[in-house]
Amino acid sequence: MTKIYKGNIIFTKNKNKFEIIKNGFIVVNNGKVVNVFNKLPKEYMDNEIIDYKDKLIIPGMNDLHCHAPQFRNLGMAMDKELIPWLNDYTFPEESKYADIKYADKMYKKFVKEVWKKGTTRIAVFATVHKEASIRLMDIFKASGLGAFVGKVNMNINCPDSLLENTKKSIEDTKDILNMNLSKDSLVKPIITPRFIPSCDSELLRELGNLALEYNVETQSHLSENLGEIEWVKNLQPDSRFYGDAYDKFNLFGQTKTLMAHCVYSSDEELNLMKNNNVMAVHCPTSNLNVGSGVMPIRKFLDKNIPLSLGSDVSGGHDLSIFKMIVYAIQCSKLCWVNSNKELDFLSLSEAFYIATKGGGSFFGKVGSFEKDYEFDALIIDDSELNHDNYNLIERLERFIYIGDDRHILHRYVRGNKIDEPTF
Ligand code: GUN
Ligand code: FE
Repeated sequence: MTKIYKGNIIFTKNKNKFEIIKNGFIVVNNGKVVNVFNKLPKEYMDNEIIDYKDKLIIPGMNDLHCHAPQFRNLGMAMDKELIPWLNDYTFPEESKYADIKYADKMYKKFVKEVWKKGTTRIAVFATVHKEASIRLMDIFKASGLGAFVGKVNMNINCPDSLLENTKKSIEDTKDILNMNLSKDSLVKPIITPRFIPSCDSELLRELGNLALEYNVETQSHLSENLGEIEWVKNLQPDSRFYGDAYDKFNLFGQTKTLMAHCVYSSDEELNLMKNNNVMAVHCPTSNLNVGSGVMPIRKFLDKNIPLSLGSDVSGGHDLSIFKMIVYAIQCSKLCWVNSNKELDFLSLSEAFYIATKGGGSFFGKVGSFEKDYEFDALIIDDSELNHDNYNLIERLERFIYIGDDRHILHRYVRGNKIDEPTF
């Protein structure tokens, strides 16, 4: 089925420049972009045209790192750094997800909020609990949004309420992998060791084996906090650096891999990420709130390491990837000043590219309006903000900086219009 969308089209094929088509057309067939046009070719004249007039049509936002069970803690508990923050605020909240009723209630609220903010694809951590993790997948399926959902694995250094027996941890993970293997499903499982300090070598080895056996994606945390990095050295004394500890267990790019934070990654770690095609997830608000530091994102861009943005709720206090674009640019300016202007700050098109085509690449051909890309899109009604003769890039920039979900008129995933979840 062919559909044609008309409006002001903006996307980034390359990171250094916006593609802009004023009053243009996107031709979509079976959920995939056929092409974009200034003038609609004759052959398409008979198809239905959905005319969004002066509104902006942009790719959907991709959130590549988020913790669904930390939703209750959004916007609070800001007074500790990583390890005490986990022990005092995060683990007690995640323990509540043993109760499926609580999980069901909170996960529905969470997914509604993801929808609201204009995120069309997301990679989330659930908790160690199998039943609640499956429920989160079901809620995402009902929403029509795209998601990788990770049942978390932890068998050391956490409270008894979350501590897993190694055999059971692997069995539960395997049960989920066996349930959800359709390659083109919008909601899929992902291998999720919480981070090195939560897993002993046996568990890490088994998880790496599962990733390879099932050829399934992996996500975790990397080099977020200096104390954490020291701890990893002690826990995995044979590893040369943090990322090397994952690599030894086939959890660092052996299958497609996301690593959140990378605030303190050494050159060696960056080189291994580059060689293994590991995607770095920049979580700027989280790094500020948990007092971790600022990721030098320019180094990753210069090395062509795959990059994306993450809200990292509830270390991060906002689910909006538009706001992550703003924070990422602001943080990059701190790096610029602190490096004597050596590490250049992010341009708007670079940050937009990272949020759309960068992060989208983890889900397949997602995040752009080039030929064959899945049509994930947002229709932005910025008329309230457009009270003078702003050009299209100025309008986009103003929406990103000062707009919010009230300006998001519609959301599309794979060509389907996704309305507000009714659950
Ligand atoms: N490292 C291990 N677990 C977490 C978490 O839940 N949030 C953040 N920001 N870092 C982590
Ligand atoms: Fe995190």
